[in-house]
Amino acid sequence: MPELRNDFLWGGATSASQYEGAAKAGGRGLSHMDYIRRVKKADSDKTFPINVTWEMFQDHKKHESDYNFPFRRGVDFYDHYKEDIALLGEMGFKTFRMSISWSRLFPTGMEETPCEEGVQFYHNVFKECHKYGIDPLVTMIHYDIPVHLTETLNGWESPKMIDLFVRYTKFLIDEYKDEVKYWITFNEINMIMNSSYLGGGMFVEKSSKSNEQCVHQALHHQLIASALTVAYFHEHAPHSLVGNMIARLQCYPYTCQSADVLATQQQNQFNYFPTDIQVKGSYPASISNYYRKNGIEIEWYPDYQSVLENGKVDFAAISYYHTSVISAEPDKAEPIGAFVRNLENPYNETTDWGWGIDPTGLRLSLNDMNDRYGVPIFIVENGLGAHDELTPDGQIHDTYRIEYLKAHIQAIKDAVGDGCNVMGYTPWGCIDLVSCGDGQMTKRYGFVYVDADDEGNGSYRRYRKDSFYWYKQVIESNGAGV
Ligand code: BG6
Repeated sequence: MPELRNDFLWGGATSASQYEGAAKAGGRGLSHMDYIRRVKKADSDKTFPINVTWEMFQDHKKHESDYNFPFRRGVDFYDHYKEDIALLGEMGFKTFRMSISWSRLFPTGMEETPCEEGVQFYHNVFKECHKYGIDPLVTMIHYDIPVHLTETLNGWESPKMIDLFVRYTKFLIDEYKDEVKYWITFNEINMIMNSSYLGGGMFVEKSSKSNEQCVHQALHHQLIASALTVAYFHEHAPHSLVGNMIARLQCYPYTCQSADVLATQQQNQFNYFPTDIQVKGSYPASISNYYRKNGIEIEWYPDYQSVLENGKVDFAAISYYHTSVISAEPDKAEPIGAFVRNLENPYNETTDWGWGIDPTGLRLSLNDMNDRYGVPIFIVENGLGAHDELTPDGQIHDTYRIEYLKAHIQAIKDAVGDGCNVMGYTPWGCIDLVSCGDGQMTKRYGFVYVDADDEGNGSYRRYRKDSFYWYKQVIESNGAGV
């Protein structure tokens, strides 16, 4: 049986906006995520529109106290961090992926010096992790942007975001470099092509550019900001590692007709090109050609080629949830970049939220990345969003989650057997948190159940699920006991 590396980083993943809560405590400023609200079914066909428009944003601000903003609550890690980290320690976590809330340190994003209470909060969290031998894996930005920057600069559309972000990340590196060994610059940097508000904090309708132009300009700013951060990191924290991250949206052709296969290849090139840039240090020709053919004119950052070349990451991280099916036929084709696609794969089962379950797609992705990049690969998100039931005696029998994770861990082991260099695995939402795409608590991923509902009611008490005990022995045996 293939063996995982002895230093394999087992753990779990969270993000500040979905987990931390306490949106206004300790001097924190609000983030653009804090303005995404759940709407009642009758008001809309989508109960949680993550693409907030300028008009919706104005309304959300006007009626702030009337609306349900789930990211402001998270599951209150802010007040439960000691208890939560003890639970992670009990499972034997080697690492814990979390993100820092930019607006907890720099409330508007414009301040020159950070808010001390926020700075101390993260010192406390890291100290607690070390108590249990857990090395934090910190994402510098997991979507959430100080809302002031969304409002005044239209988020990442503005090149001014680069300097503001780099000031923030330089502070993170200087302040926490001795406490944090593993870092990721941007969560799912390719997600901006799917959701411009979520990934870029922008209102595309306010821009004078076309949607696509606006999104790719913003992505260029993010890639530059990431590269400048990585260059500073390598100079100032040479003993730590920094990676990039994308949502690995692996696509399959609808048929074996060459037109479908070609469309799939093009879609995959599109999904992955940020990793090409962040690992190899330059824009791939396929994307430069796409820009040329489609009239997308990027205002390039000065000397951007050498900035990208100097900002190459040490490892490539992905989230992996599902695969999608692509067709070249115009009536079946969908806009480039869509996260969850409509064409069904009859060979895969789906989750309650319609995501195709496909562990072999993970093995395939890992092999593809290993051949293409030659840097260690870190799976920093994966998991099953499911309905869980808390029994009257405080148990959660989540065998479906164990089955899902087992199959994916087996796929990782198979990929390692194929020769892939995989450095770790941190399943998503290790402690239940607010779903990003739906704003629900009812879509749960964790090994630990949190007693809270979609409206924010509940005791917020934590309960160990069956998967908690199972994952503990997986870690103990370095994956042998799957
Ligand atoms: C990833 C994000 O895309 O998917 C997470 O990085 C998110 O923030 C996760 O929570 C799962 O998606 P959802 O919509 O089920 O929460």
